[in-house]
Amino acid sequence: MVKPRSQYVCQDCGAVAPKWAGRCEGCGAWNSLVEETIQSAPGGLSGSGLAGRARAGGKIAFVDLDSESPPRPRLICGLAEFDRVTGGGLVPGSAVLVAGDPGIGKSTLLLQVAARMAAVGAACAYISGEESIDQVRLRARRMGLAKAPVQLASATSVRDMVASLDHPDGPAVVIVDSVQTLYIDSLESAPGTVSQVRAAAQELIRLAKKRGFSLLLVGHVTKEGLIAGPKVLEHMVDTVLTFEGDRGHHFRILRAVKNRFGPTDEIGVFEMTDEGLQEVANPSALFLAERRGNIAGAAVFAGLEGTRPLLVEIQALVSASPLATPRRAVVGWDSGRLAMVLAVLEARCGLALAGQEVYLNVAGGLRIGEPAADLAVAAALVSAATGQEVPEQTVVFGEIGLSGEIRPVSQVELRLKEAEKLGFTRAWIAPRRKAPGKTPGKAGATAAAGPKAPAGGQGLAVEEIPHLQDLVARLTVPGPQTPGLETPGRAGPSLERHGRERGGPARPGRGQQAY
Ligand code: TYD
Ligand code: MG
Repeated sequence: MVKPRSQYVCQDCGAVAPKWAGRCEGCGAWNSLVEETIQSAPGGLSGSGLAGRARAGGKIAFVDLDSESPPRPRLICGLAEFDRVTGGGLVPGSAVLVAGDPGIGKSTLLLQVAARMAAVGAACAYISGEESIDQVRLRARRMGLAKAPVQLASATSVRDMVASLDHPDGPAVVIVDSVQTLYIDSLESAPGTVSQVRAAAQELIRLAKKRGFSLLLVGHVTKEGLIAGPKVLEHMVDTVLTFEGDRGHHFRILRAVKNRFGPTDEIGVFEMTDEGLQEVANPSALFLAERRGNIAGAAVFAGLEGTRPLLVEIQALVSASPLATPRRAVVGWDSGRLAMVLAVLEARCGLALAGQEVYLNVAGGLRIGEPAADLAVAAALVSAATGQEVPEQTVVFGEIGLSGEIRPVSQVELRLKEAEKLGFTRAWIAPRRKAPGKTPGKAGATAAAGPKAPAGGQGLAVEEIPHLQDLVARLTVPGPQTPGLETPGRAGPSLERHGRERGGPARPGRGQQAY
């Protein structure tokens, strides 16, 4: 018999090392290697792997792509935000990982999903490895879900779970909270280690495919921002949803990061209340609800999260710094991107912000990843520097290139429509893409990207901003009080020079246009 040896497994990325080291060679994480015993026969509950018994392999039956029987319908729970993020309901036999920081509300969300599922007639089992039955019941009662016919259990042994679920008339949905508490008794490592998490998930996913139930696994994100045993799990499941939000805010965002059965980048917005999570049908209104009128240093960005337009306020503060290296702090946006926008403002527009502290915040605790936010960020920055407010009821979007040109973004009409719906009257946007090769027959197909205003829209004045200088010009107070602009033309084309460029061929000949 081979003596079991131990190996060191990184709890962040799953990389294996023969010796302990302070830093993982694979992902660079510090202090993440944990000793685990090497199993002589790798594998889960089934015991012997290929090495165990030499038996002849069975023949695989190949079938057609097309099937006679219609596919089983997706399970829709009725929480519209959840259903949309999953791509239109849970697919039978699929495995979904719901990842998020501890305490963000994963258990709350999934208990609500379980209750809804059960209420619409799908048998639903909720297995908690973290909380006792009484704790879950207490929460259910507080949220008014105690009467929902959910099958509740508290268990951590995967062997017990498999024994209970492996029969033909088992539940249609199984929720396991959380994957880090599960253990398989044939493995010696502790629950939560990579090998346990991997093996436990594998057994449950295998069973889900065999019995056709939808499996929802909860996974905590560790301090480094990774789910323990994360890479392994992300590859194994069909869908990865992250549940995020700022503890200081009550908004929670469910985001599809990977989805084999639907679009990614889709988000669902919830609000944490005393009675659990409430769906937010109109997130833009919510994110803009806390705005305090029109102030300098704020701009409303018409963004897009998945298929849904989302309006958020971007706030900037620029102040003189006593430090040699002024501070730059960003919440909700990429700091590298802020540095780029600042550099372009300085080099191409002569806006000197190098000696100033710059703070940028996306209101409401949302995180924006879209480059289309560049122009709104620039508007907030310039407005903060010059003290000139962005005109009332204006939305801004566009991507900034390194030469200061504003680049087109996708889904212009969708963004404009949302802005109009919320009562905005003006939009500063990137020049829209020209419909390629205006063949009359194809005009309809490219209309969405073209400059045409959709029928029925009348309240929104659209101004295309071809260059960052045009934005700066709009936000410059005519007169002496423009501190940031004291050195125009120092490192690039100045505002004066910009006037000369106006007739240049690069400009699309479209100024203000009724939308
Ligand atoms: P929980 O679902 O336990 O988080 P997770 O499973 O992700 O660790 O949520 C815990 C937080 O949610 C806790 O701070 C309390 C808050 N909460 C409410 O505000 N209202 C509620 O109705 C519930 C159930 C929880
Ligand atoms: Mg929990």
